[in-house]
Amino acid sequence: MGHSWVSQQAVISDVFTSVTSVSLGAAAAKPGEHVIDIGCGTGDTLLAFAKIVGPSGAVLGVDVSVPMLDFAKHRAAEAGLGNVTCALADAMTYAFEPRWADLVYSRFGVMFFDDPVKAFTNIRSGMKAGGRLVFVCFRTMPECPWFRVPIEAARPHVPPQPPADPLAPGMFSFAREERVRGLLTEAGFREIALKATDVPIHGKDVTQSMAFITQAGPLPALLENASDEQRNRAIEAVRDALAASIGADGRGLHVGLWLVSALA
Ligand SMILES: C[S@@+](CC[C@H](N)C(=O)[O-])C[C@H]1O[C@@H](n2cnc3c(N)ncnc32)[C@H](O)[C@@H]1O
Repeated sequence: MGHSWVSQQAVISDVFTSVTSVSLGAAAAKPGEHVIDIGCGTGDTLLAFAKIVGPSGAVLGVDVSVPMLDFAKHRAAEAGLGNVTCALADAMTYAFEPRWADLVYSRFGVMFFDDPVKAFTNIRSGMKAGGRLVFVCFRTMPECPWFRVPIEAARPHVPPQPPADPLAPGMFSFAREERVRGLLTEAGFREIALKATDVPIHGKDVTQSMAFITQAGPLPALLENASDEQRNRAIEAVRDALAASIGADGRGLHVGLWLVSALA
């Protein structure tokens, strides 16, 4: 997925505008702080934090994707942000500098760990005592019409998919509140809070929405085993469904998020 996220970076940034503002607001980073962005991808939020913490602070982005992290580094250099470091690593095993971070943040980058308790325990080792963990993850697919509407439109046109294991690493693996609470508790976090938040999606129009939906989220996997003809029919059906659901300004659909916070 890394290459498509790089090529669609501008679209993804636009589409996630509300997600970013809601989650950066909750993170409440301050000048001078040390921030770790887990699964920072192409660097949208990493760069935002670098600007907020300023030259007296520092940010570390961790990601397993070479193309995405390269792009994040390129963007940081282009913006002249000297307080950004990027680590190509699995956050589950990366040797974080002990008790370094005031804030650990993630926009959709923590649902893919092979062993989430091990990963969050490792991440906590890099946080100061009392440091804040803030991340956003998706609630269930039915609570995310932005993903559900295209999937329901495409499904009749493509080969059936076996049911997915809801606990396997993946974008909906943190959909259940009790699971997230349990994992974070086991990893040693306290004052865990999950706030259900519905966030509008800001695709500018149907074309931009299609660019996102066909590259990111659950649709690409559904189309993977389809013939060209099935794929074309499915994509046409998705475009019609999106056009019927979103207004001329691109709005009208939302994603259901958990805004998760905890203390180390
Ligand atoms: C859905 S993308 C989100 C990217 C970015 N945070 C954003 O919102 O644009 C998930 C990101 O998590 C990264 N990722 C997945 N597993 C990871 C792991 N174990 N350690 C670090 N990064 C990981 C992926 O490479 C990808 O960049």
